[in-house]
Amino acid sequence: MEKLKHVISARQFKDPEFLLWLFESAHQMERDDVFRALTDPLRGRILATLFFEPSTRTRFSFEAAMQKLGGGVLTAENARANSSATKGETISDTIRVVSGYADAIAIRHYEPGTAEAAARISPVPIINAGDGVGEHPTQALADMYTIKKELGRLSGLRVALVGDLLNGRTIHSLLPLLSLYPGVTIDLISPWQLRLPLAYREYLMEKGVAFHEGEKLEGVIEEADVAYITRVQSERFASKDEYDVVKDVYVINAEIADRLKPDAIIMHALPRVNEISPEVDANARAAYFRQAKNGLYIRMALLKYLLA
Ligand code: NCD
Repeated sequence: MEKLKHVISARQFKDPEFLLWLFESAHQMERDDVFRALTDPLRGRILATLFFEPSTRTRFSFEAAMQKLGGGVLTAENARANSSATKGETISDTIRVVSGYADAIAIRHYEPGTAEAAARISPVPIINAGDGVGEHPTQALADMYTIKKELGRLSGLRVALVGDLLNGRTIHSLLPLLSLYPGVTIDLISPWQLRLPLAYREYLMEKGVAFHEGEKLEGVIEEADVAYITRVQSERFASKDEYDVVKDVYVINAEIADRLKPDAIIMHALPRVNEISPEVDANARAAYFRQAKNGLYIRMALLKYLLA
């Protein structure tokens, strides 16, 4: 695979060999972190995190990753309010200026396509940290790394994607990565209002990935190796009424979690609202906090790949 300059879409990762290499690098990062053997490969380099939408995990894990690699961080955690955007500065001017101070920019924006537009003009690597209802490729890399670590394989899996498939950008980025592996079957479970957009269903068809759509957990969740639950993305609804109709449509409680196969895993990019009850956290299948931690190591591997 040609060396990537920017990370904008999960579709850029076309080579399972590259993913394997990245996952091994992430695993090495974890070992070096645990044994305090990190060697500051990014000393003197700076990552800017330019976030126009809220974030805890993504921004903190990017910043922690950069610092653990010996680099520094410049942050605009509420760029919508605290950057010159409030004065009317365009994104492209902001990118031009920030790229003079930083060696890479992780950007989160409410408008799909913003990261791609930034990459067109930026002299330094742009990393898409979520572009509205578009994509969230580094989350999907963390998710695949989690599945590999937890289940030991990425092929032949039955994966249930549950919840807001319309607006969930983590899902939009996960699909191209799952599509790289043979024998993957995907169950798309959502209320009809939150169905996966046609373009993504067409993508799966084009790639020859077996998938089914439905509204019910029952009869599907029992077969899954991975149950990936998503938050209904309240911030994307036109009105509170529309959100209220679907907000608690799926709630994974202890009883439902126990219906999964003993070695299945439950994933969630977090934050969760009501879709997974806290009582599930004690279930060995609950992988979501481990998944969040893995985000740190995959971002370390990715930053080193882009910048070292
Ligand atoms: C996700 C996001 O921002 O898209 N969170 C994350 O990055 N871990 C998922 C969500 O907000 O529901």
